[in-house]
Amino acid sequence: MTSTDRNPPHPHHAFVFRTAHSRDGAALWHLVRDTRALELNSPYFYVLFATDFGQTCLVAEAPDGRLAGLVIGYVPPTQADTAFVWQVGVHPDFQGQGLGLQLLQQWWALPALSTCRWLTATVADDNTASRALFERFAREHGRPCERRPHFTADLFPIDHPAEPLLRIGPIDRGRPVPV
Ligand SMILES: CC(C)(COP(=O)(O)OP(=O)(O)OC[C@H]1O[C@@H](n2cnc3c(N)ncnc32)[C@H](O)[C@@H]1OP(=O)(O)O)[C@@H](O)C(=O)NCCC(=O)NCCS
Repeated sequence: MTSTDRNPPHPHHAFVFRTAHSRDGAALWHLVRDTRALELNSPYFYVLFATDFGQTCLVAEAPDGRLAGLVIGYVPPTQADTAFVWQVGVHPDFQGQGLGLQLLQQWWALPALSTCRWLTATVADDNTASRALFERFAREHGRPCERRPHFTADLFPIDHPAEPLLRIGPIDRGRPVPV
């Protein structure tokens, strides 16, 4: 990406950040589809996630009410100290102006994630934008972004790239971070 490819900046205060609920499921599906980069799952999956994991999912609403960005995540049942990012996406109209980082920071600050010290996500090797986003988040918190094998290609029933795990932490919750 070059600076000329970037969208004109929107002030961050222009966005409303909030957790998700059942009625967001359809908009989540549309936004994931519109990124043209994220793996699109069934509409049912997004409705289910927004319903059952809404407190660990964050959306950013643009002033016109459109969904500009999302973080879909959860706390793995056996890892209470870890917040897993399943999908993070910014609508192409709003990419490249800091909203992705702002979303991750606001998501990390959610009450439902207050016990977490680690952030994890799986990112395929060819997803440079996503990798750059998580590395930037790690730098903001002064922590390394470790990469280790996780979901190898042979686990998938169809042709699918491996999804190595990125792991950031431990993050000190006592240290205030600008959101
Ligand atoms: C990944 C994504 C969420 C980043 O959101 P964004 O608002 O564009 O990112 P930001 O402007 O906050 O930038 C965050 C960092 O990512 C980098 N970045 C963003 N887009 C990039 C791109 N296309 N290529 C390389 N780096 C990129 C920025 O340079 C910045 O890093 P820096 O501070 O070290 O320079 C967004 O590009 C997107 O939705 N992509 C498609 C979906 C996707 O791939 N999601 C991740 C898989 S879970």
